[in-house]
Amino acid sequence: MNDNDGVGLEARLSDRNYHRPPPRFVGQANASDPAIYDRVGDFPDGFEAYADLLTWETRWDETFDGSDPPFFEWFVGGSLNASVNCVDRHLADRKNQAALIWEGEDGEQRTVTYQDLHRRVNEVAATLREVGVSEDDVVTLHLPMVPALPITMLACARIGAVHSVVFAGFSANALADRLADADSDVLVTIDGYYRRGEWLDHKDKADQALADSATDVETALLWSRHDDLEAGVELAGEDPYVLVDDVLAEKAGADVQPVARDAEDPLFLMYTSGTTGKPKGCQHRTGGYLAYAAGTSKYVLDIKPTDTYWCGADIGWITGHSYIVYGPLALGTTSLMYEGAPDFPDRSRTWEIAERYDVDIFHTSPTAIRQFMKWGSDHLAGHDFDFRHLTTVGEPIQPEAWEWYYEHVGDAEAVVVDTWWQTETGGHLITNLPALADMKPGSAGRPCPGIQPALYEDDGTHIEPESGRAGNLVIERPWPGMLQTVYGDDERFIAEYWQRFSDTESDDWREWVYETGDGAVHGQDGYYRILGRLDDVMNVAGHRLGTMELESAVTEVQAVAEAAVVAREDTERGHVPDVYVVLRDGDEAGADVRKQVVAAVEDQIGAFARPDRVLFVSDLPKTRSGKIMRRVLENISNSDDLGDTTTLRDPTVPEQIRKQVQTGGQPPRT
Ligand code: WTA
Repeated sequence: MNDNDGVGLEARLSDRNYHRPPPRFVGQANASDPAIYDRVGDFPDGFEAYADLLTWETRWDETFDGSDPPFFEWFVGGSLNASVNCVDRHLADRKNQAALIWEGEDGEQRTVTYQDLHRRVNEVAATLREVGVSEDDVVTLHLPMVPALPITMLACARIGAVHSVVFAGFSANALADRLADADSDVLVTIDGYYRRGEWLDHKDKADQALADSATDVETALLWSRHDDLEAGVELAGEDPYVLVDDVLAEKAGADVQPVARDAEDPLFLMYTSGTTGKPKGCQHRTGGYLAYAAGTSKYVLDIKPTDTYWCGADIGWITGHSYIVYGPLALGTTSLMYEGAPDFPDRSRTWEIAERYDVDIFHTSPTAIRQFMKWGSDHLAGHDFDFRHLTTVGEPIQPEAWEWYYEHVGDAEAVVVDTWWQTETGGHLITNLPALADMKPGSAGRPCPGIQPALYEDDGTHIEPESGRAGNLVIERPWPGMLQTVYGDDERFIAEYWQRFSDTESDDWREWVYETGDGAVHGQDGYYRILGRLDDVMNVAGHRLGTMELESAVTEVQAVAEAAVVAREDTERGHVPDVYVVLRDGDEAGADVRKQVVAAVEDQIGAFARPDRVLFVSDLPKTRSGKIMRRVLENISNSDDLGDTTTLRDPTVPEQIRKQVQTGGQPPRT
């Protein structure tokens, strides 16, 4: 498609595909005056509007300090405590309101009021202190969706410890890598949890991670999944485990003075996949992050304290940090958490929960929406729920899935908000403020107030705004929610996010441009449509995975000489990993090796990263310098044209691979 076609198509599509936000939404929206774009966009002071949503111990002197790019500082000189903002300050007005509503997969229900949350956070903060955690220590949390997770996060924040939450689905090896990288000597885990009716032994992963010589954990705090102590765990002096319940019992009624944190002190680390085999610890600051999470929760998610808000993400990913815990609780609302699978005991579980708690705002991923769509709208029928606001996040959403969400989940009476952002950005960067713009299925929309995205060519040339042409999505101006650095590795921070499009010699922050790694199109209507990752990162069912991480797991298998992993489009999960394997001489392709490959991925990363297909080939396409051309494999996987193969060392390889893949000759699929 040439550029003009792109513009034409974009313009044609845009005429018919808009939906007006329903009047009943517009009338009550938190952001109802377009002047908010000018107010917040008045750089940098406009972002004070978000910081003013918080309670500060000391007010800041300077909104933004850009003197040492790309190490920007926000709300300089200010101090605050995140747990005070998410808990204490709500006690005066709504201590008996639910802060968290939790439903276990087994049907157990718990309501944690703000008063309860305050008590629990103080007791757990005292427990952390008791086991030796001090300010600035990194505490690693490997917890599933149970109240203990947000409570422990807030307890860390209370004493100024930095939490690093590792998604519970990550394997023992992945946990060990993250513990070691953060030099974390306290691990918080749990005996187990329920998933699809099964009890998963979670402590087992901790046992293995602690046995890994790269880790050096002095204390492993073990929660019990069951409130009922009878069903709780027992430990027979297993060093370094300590039962949380045992220490908590001594800490009843504890009152832990919140530590005033400098706005620039780190609040947490969140590891995410990048383009190398080693995940990056994105380090988020206290003041700017919390201000940005609160501001976007208020104006994009339209959260009000009286709402019951349900985000179906897992707190182990950034969405859960910003939009289950920090944003919603900073605004004093009721945040709902569900432990288990959406199809347990049957496929109407989600809608049953929505009805039971009268959820106002619902937040999920395109993968989940595609799944609901596949299961059929019958599962929604008969459930009396009424959403005002629907969010999607994490992957591009196809217009068809968008329309289904709008019609069947929102009854054409709720707004649908497609939010684009990243672990690194802390909060939404591109999405419409729902009352102020028409919705357009498949487009994330306009930049958030104060955010300045742009599209660049590969060589750094600026692409004309609103031209309908695709390019590298970059952000040209800092914002308070952005990561501070990659933990312990400032050079990698610069290399991964800034080097490509910035003048790295310059002291002027305006010369520093943040590279997102995504491709996008900027339409004539000013809306951005996100195309997906351009680097070696893929998005599988909304989970971000690094190609290199997968490849290094696969090459652990003895029989594998070489491996390349690429993303194949999948109608349900967005993308799935295809693994191309070249075997060592003498080893045979077959179900056995395939099983080992899958097991290696589960072992090194986690079951959620399982490859979809393992394809045995005799060679991989390589450049003359020996670099694997994954793009060619991606085209084969997606049955696209092979593209330009003239730079390959052996241009006949792709055709051979295609034949090998297409003419069967393959052992059966896993
Ligand atoms: C993708 C998740 C299209 C994108 C918050 C980004 C999206 C990566 C959208 C970050 C969206 C996120 N439309 N693509 N609305 N939101 N992405 O770090 O490729 O887990 O770079 O953060 O997800 O994934 P991460």
